[in-house]
Amino acid sequence: MTTMPPVADDSARLAAFEARIAADESIEPKDWMPERYRAQLIRMMSQHAHSEVVGMLPEGNWITRAPSLRRKMILLAKVQDEGGHGLYIYCGTETLGVDRHDLVQQLLDGKAKYSSIFNYPTLSWADMGAIGWLVDGAAIVNQTMLAKASYGPYARAMVRICKEENFHKKQGYEIMATLARGTSAQKAMAQESLNRWWWPSLMMFGPHDKDSSNSDELMRWGIKRKSNDELRQRFINLTVAQVQAIDLTVPDPDLRFDEATGNWLTGPIDWDEFWRVVKGNGPCNSERLGARRNAHAEGRWVREAAVAFAEKQQRDNREATEKQQMGTPLGDGASA
Ligand SMILES: [Fe+2]
Ligand SMILES: [Fe+2]
Repeated sequence: MTTMPPVADDSARLAAFEARIAADESIEPKDWMPERYRAQLIRMMSQHAHSEVVGMLPEGNWITRAPSLRRKMILLAKVQDEGGHGLYIYCGTETLGVDRHDLVQQLLDGKAKYSSIFNYPTLSWADMGAIGWLVDGAAIVNQTMLAKASYGPYARAMVRICKEENFHKKQGYEIMATLARGTSAQKAMAQESLNRWWWPSLMMFGPHDKDSSNSDELMRWGIKRKSNDELRQRFINLTVAQVQAIDLTVPDPDLRFDEATGNWLTGPIDWDEFWRVVKGNGPCNSERLGARRNAHAEGRWVREAAVAFAEKQQRDNREATEKQQMGTPLGDGASA
């Protein structure tokens, strides 16, 4: 990570920086920024990139078991998109002066966090529906807000990624809707999957605002524009209507509509479970990291080959340019 040398007018720079944030200006990589802003962005963006890449695993499990060629093609494309999102966000994080190899190493060493939702197992085909619908759906609510983040490269990455996430969500909801109007066994499979994914999806927005240590700072600097609870409420309101539209049931006996606010209110979220999974003791934490470590080790030759190829191309280009510069129409050695 690059560190700005301490300068006497840091407080003036900070004031100018905060004035730019207040004026909704976008902060770009070469602009001065407080170290804490840089550090928070690196933490958040790298966690996001890791989540995209680890997020390929639960669904990747089902590519060979998709029930039709059409579903297989869609799932394959979706999982591939997630890998692309990861690479795109690693690139964005590198604009802050870090090296992606260090970030990936932190993930492999178990020192970096990624979204806990991916530490839950995928037990049935309906889980491909529930993940697309709920997990990608929750990600869209979050990422639509991040598309207005104050850091330009992150905001622009989110605009593009959100377009693909919308496709992910629609394909997931379509799977659930198809199962829900299928045989009673299919409908039961969809409901069982919704039962398992509902609460972890609500946890994706993070702890309640009063318990969220990073939120104030992230909002002050325009990295986040809405609080965890606001985003979660938006997701709940959108999703309850979608559950009802396909005749499934939200697995929450306390769920009720509040006329005064127009919000659907849920029962209490099990934060003990949330922290258990965040701290590494979820159902699949070690399996996911093990799979990433294997993939990284097995992909080593691909990375080496890509570097060797890039170097060869650069060498060839250099040689071609040199030849061109040496040759003139009349002075071409071959014809002289
Ligand atoms: Fe994604
Ligand atoms: Fe996605």
